Amino acid sequence: MEFVNSIPEALSYDDVLLLPAYSDFLPHEADISTEILPGIRLKVPIVSAAMDTVTEDKMAIALALQGGVGVIHRNLTPREQAQQVLNVKRYLNFVIDNPYTVEPDQTIEDVWEIMQNNDISGLPVVENGVLSGIITSRDLRFCKDYRLKVRDVMTANPIAEVGTPAIQSARDKFDTHKIEKLPVVDENGKLTGLITVKDMEKHDKFPNAATDDSGRLLVGAAISPVDLDRRMPLLQQAKVDFVVLDTAHGTTKGVVQAVKTLKSKYETLVVAGNVATADGAKLLIDAGADCIKVGVGPGSICTTRIVAGIGVPQFSAVAEACSVANSAGVPVIADGGIKFSGDIVKAIGAGASAVMLGNLLAGMKESPGREILFEGRIFKAYRGMGSVAAIRKGSGDRYQMNEGDEPVPEGVEGRVPFKGELAPFVHQLITGLRKGMGYTGCRTLSQLRNYKKFVRITAAGLRESHAHDVVITHEPPNYSR
Ligand code: XMP
Repeated sequence: MEFVNSIPEALSYDDVLLLPAYSDFLPHEADISTEILPGIRLKVPIVSAAMDTVTEDKMAIALALQGGVGVIHRNLTPREQAQQVLNVKRYLNFVIDNPYTVEPDQTIEDVWEIMQNNDISGLPVVENGVLSGIITSRDLRFCKDYRLKVRDVMTANPIAEVGTPAIQSARDKFDTHKIEKLPVVDENGKLTGLITVKDMEKHDKFPNAATDDSGRLLVGAAISPVDLDRRMPLLQQAKVDFVVLDTAHGTTKGVVQAVKTLKSKYETLVVAGNVATADGAKLLIDAGADCIKVGVGPGSICTTRIVAGIGVPQFSAVAEACSVANSAGVPVIADGGIKFSGDIVKAIGAGASAVMLGNLLAGMKESPGREILFEGRIFKAYRGMGSVAAIRKGSGDRYQMNEGDEPVPEGVEGRVPFKGELAPFVHQLITGLRKGMGYTGCRTLSQLRNYKKFVRITAAGLRESHAHDVVITHEPPNYSR
């Protein structure tokens, strides 16, 4: 049977290892920054999955503060999803573009209301858009009469930054004048923004944070070919940085058309997928995608390969897609199947620019949902977006099903161990990546992408690679079976 003999073999992460090689640097000196889209550079090559048990605003904020980026899932109404994007974008700023303001004739009661409703501690005072004062909780501390006018309580002629603000000049003003809010005005005195000391402190505390040009955290949102016109206007209003065409089968007419519409009508950055072949990657690159997402069936909760009999083991899928994407200069995100930090090294070694994680992040404190106590241990729920419960919440079209269809699932519902806060866990993952770079002598991710020295291992090799012939008595933070 000729055709059986000519069936190509495909490998998964467990089938391969990178060869160690000469290194002239220490792992902590490795540069793990990466570009996942034109102009979107991350200090940490980790993207959190657009799944309803993985990424909502809390996870997106926590991951972006560590240097990665989150993709808000789409089992939310367009309005809810856009609100979550907005929450991420508002969490950190250098300059707040559109600060809440008051007019001099408003009352102190109005000021309290705006401050409490929006959890802020001060407001610039403007008259016809021109800055005339500032009122903060400091001014209000001893003000008992809520009927007083703002003009009677505010600090008039406040210190301000004129023109395009520079970080150092703003810092100097905070220090010299012991203030907490610094309005920004143009040459005519019109308010154009607000800088707060709280934001400055957050920037200092999270030096790796993934931010846009205005110092706001980066965030993406999942959309589908069938709902993009409902989601895009709201997402763009919320200043989403990129969208992810989130489908299980990206090698389709619908996804190609959606990429074209997103590029021509909305001029947004698009991650398109999922594909598992070189042809699939080429199709979406030709359609105009800015980044390709790879993975058909490798996910820990996926049953697509079992239900539909299709797919490509993930290491080969990433390498295949990268054979086309890397030469076209289009980044690839390896989505699904990452079990340990070593798999991140292998995915990038196969040519990816970043990895998307579902399972590894589902058990974090910042992922949606509550902790579950079961038989004395703490867990969090983790389910496929193609599971019955997720389909019933609205994700059926990801698996080419119509609303109201009886679910034919391509995923399962389950639980994963609770792992605590994200920051120390991300540290484990990226230190594992740095170690891989140290062992291979690849100082940058682009060197690792081009390294290409792998060995295939057997089942015996895999068994030898894992802890074996021992009962683990103390689980390390980066390994469990
Ligand atoms: P991990 O391995 O990190 O994979 O848990 C997460 C990725 O799996 C995809 N995904 C699914 N694939 N059925 C599938 O075939 C599903 O129900 C499902 N839910 C998520 C998705 O690409 C995610 O990023």
